[in-house]
Amino acid sequence: SLPNNATIIEVGPRDGLQNEKNAIATDVKLNFIKALQDAGISEMELTSFVSPKWVPQMADAEMIVKSTTKVGRQFVLAPNATGVERAMEASAEAIAVFVGVSNSFNKKNINKNTAEAMARLAPVVAKLKDEGKFVRACISTAFYCPYEGKMEIEDTVALCKIFASWGVDELSVADTIGMANPVESYTLFKRLKKEFPELLLTAHFHDTRKMALANIFAALQAGIDRFDTSTGGLGGCPFAKGATGNVATEDVVHMLESIGIHTGVDIDKICQAAAIVEPFLSKSIDSGQYRLFTQK
Ligand code: HMG
Ligand code: MG
Repeated sequence: SLPNNATIIEVGPRDGLQNEKNAIATDVKLNFIKALQDAGISEMELTSFVSPKWVPQMADAEMIVKSTTKVGRQFVLAPNATGVERAMEASAEAIAVFVGVSNSFNKKNINKNTAEAMARLAPVVAKLKDEGKFVRACISTAFYCPYEGKMEIEDTVALCKIFASWGVDELSVADTIGMANPVESYTLFKRLKKEFPELLLTAHFHDTRKMALANIFAALQAGIDRFDTSTGGLGGCPFAKGATGNVATEDVVHMLESIGIHTGVDIDKICQAAAIVEPFLSKSIDSGQYRLFTQK
C-alpha cells in the first residue's frame, strides 16, 4: 500500500546548480533557497564543499551556509576530510557524503576508486557520528554507470552495507544518468527496505529518459517515501557523461498529491522559486507544472 505522506528533499541549489554553465550570483542562489523554504521544503541540499577547481559553481559554499536561515534539515555535500572541515567551520549540521558503486565513475568524479574513497571516508564519517552529526550517504551509479553500464545489485547492496555499518542515518540511492526502469527501481528499493529497515531510505532519480516519475511510483510501491527532487528539473553531475537534470520537484509533488500522498509542498510557490533562477540559467525550464504555471 502507498504511504499517506512523503518527504521531498530539494536538491536544486546543489545538484541543480552545480552543472550550470553560467555563474549564478550568490544572492540569486540565496533568494532561490529562501523561496524554496517558503514553498514548504523542509529538507534541502544547500551546496557542496567540493574543490572549487573541479566545480566552480559551488565555490561560494561558505557564504551559502552562513547566509541561510535554518529551516528543517539542511544538507551540504562533502567529498573528503577537507570538505567536512570546511562544512564544520561553516557550522553545517547535516553532511552528505557521496561515493558511487562504479570505480570508473568515482575516478572521474572524485579522483579515487571506490575502495580508496571508502577507506578515506571511514574515519571522516566516524568523527561526524561521534560529534552527533546527521550523515546522509549518497550512492551514485546504483543502477547504471555511464562508463561501465549496468551495475550488479549485489555491489550496490554491499556498498550500502558498509555505510550502514558506519552508522549513517540515511542512504540516498541514485540513478545518476536516468537509465533505470520501474522494475529495476522496485527490485532494488524492495531489497534495500529489507536490508536496512532502520535507515532512512531515499530515492534520487535523474530524468534523462523521462522515466523518473515511473521509477518514483515503483519505489513508492516498494515502501520508499523520501525523494530527492530538483526545482525546475535542473541538475546533473558534471562528471557523469550524458547526465541531465533531476526529476522536477513540481512534477513529483503534483504526481504525489494527485494520488493522495501529502508532501506539504506548494507547487505554485515552487514554480515561483524556479522563476527566480530561470533568467540566470543557460537553458529554460520545461517541466510540466512550470509550463502550466507560466501560462497562467
Ligand atoms: P583531487 O584533485 O584528487 O584532490 O580532487 P586532492 O586531495 O589531491 O587535493 C588537491 C587540492 O584540492 C588541494 O589543494 C586540496 O586542498 C584541495 P592545493 O594543495 O593544490 O592548493 N581540496 C579541496 N579544496 C576545497 N574543498 C575540498 C577539497 N578537497 C581537496 N573538499 C576532490 C579530489 C574530491 C576534491 C575533487 O575530485 C572534487 O571536488 N570532486 C567533487 C566532484 C563533484 O562535486 N561532483 C558532483 C557531486 S556528486 C553528484 O552530483 C551525484 C549525486 O547527485 C548522486 C547522483 O546523482 O549520482 C550526489
Ligand atoms: Mg544527482
